[in-house]
Amino acid sequence: MMFKSILSVAAMAAVLVEAHVSITPPKINADTYSSIAFRIPHGCNGSPTTKVTVKLPTNTSSVKGAFIPGWQISTTTRPLEVPFKSDGKEVNTTVDTVTWSADTAGNNSLPDTAYMDFGLTLKTPIKPNANDKLAFDLYQVCTNGSNNWTDTAPNGEHPQPAVTLLPKGASTTATSGSFKTSASAMTLAMTMLLASAGYFL
Ligand SMILES: *[C@@H]1O[C@H](CO)[C@@H](O)[C@H](O)[C@H]1NC(C)=O
Ligand SMILES: *[C@@H]1O[C@H](CO)[C@@H](O)[C@H](O)[C@H]1NC(C)=O
Ligand SMILES: *[C@@H]1O[C@H](CO)[C@@H](O)[C@H](O)[C@H]1NC(C)=O
Ligand SMILES: *[C@@H]1O[C@H](CO)[C@@H](O)[C@H](O)[C@H]1NC(C)=O
Ligand SMILES: *[C@@H]1O[C@H](CO)[C@@H](O)[C@H](O)[C@H]1NC(C)=O
Repeated sequence: MMFKSILSVAAMAAVLVEAHVSITPPKINADTYSSIAFRIPHGCNGSPTTKVTVKLPTNTSSVKGAFIPGWQISTTTRPLEVPFKSDGKEVNTTVDTVTWSADTAGNNSLPDTAYMDFGLTLKTPIKPNANDKLAFDLYQVCTNGSNNWTDTAPNGEHPQPAVTLLPKGASTTATSGSFKTSASAMTLAMTMLLASAGYFL
């Protein structure tokens, strides 16, 4: 009985450890004002998260980070790759990075045992980028250590979070690839749990 619980916990821990930074929703439209959120699933080797920086990809504009109570928000800017006119004025700069920093004096860092969503609104590029993906470098800093979610290799340890960029106006609610992935991960976890339970009944 004891052994069974240990196996179940081990199976769940395996699923948790594999969690990467993800973006919701998984699909958004090109050339559209969109709202997305970066989900930080864990800390750095058990250490709580104190800072998250997101780098905005080429041709994004009108960027605003979500206010999170207990965290400071700051931005840096860069020249806009393709300036455009809005209300007769030229828009020629854009946000380069958004950083959320925990007010650590108030114990507001994000514990390893919890997750948190860091929201962002942005205007997406007119032309979909390579592979129709919009990928973001994300830098996570913890009380002890850091994780740089910048791997572009598909099986990298810390893959870049990315969303699928569909043509302007296309439906973004059709069954998504990442839903299938998490569903099969869940099925695997359930199978492992049931197998470990059944084996020792
Ligand atoms: C950027 O736009 C402003 C007006 O919004 C303009 O005054 C400025 O000259 C522009 N800068 C460049 C480098 O085009
Ligand atoms: C922060 O956490 C420590 C340890 O749990 C506690 O002693 C301290 O009072 C907390 N500080 C604040 C401002 O809540
Ligand atoms: C940026 O936008 C311009 C104009 O639409 C386009 O020519 C260029 O390929 C885009 N760059 C990237 C990396 O998407
Ligand atoms: C910081 O993390 C490293 C690697 O995970 C570990 O070896 C070290 O003991 C940690 N230091 C503290 C003060 O917790
Ligand atoms: C992440 O990148 C920063 C510089 O951008 C570097 O100081 C830090 O050591 C890197 N962390 C890891 C785990 O590679």
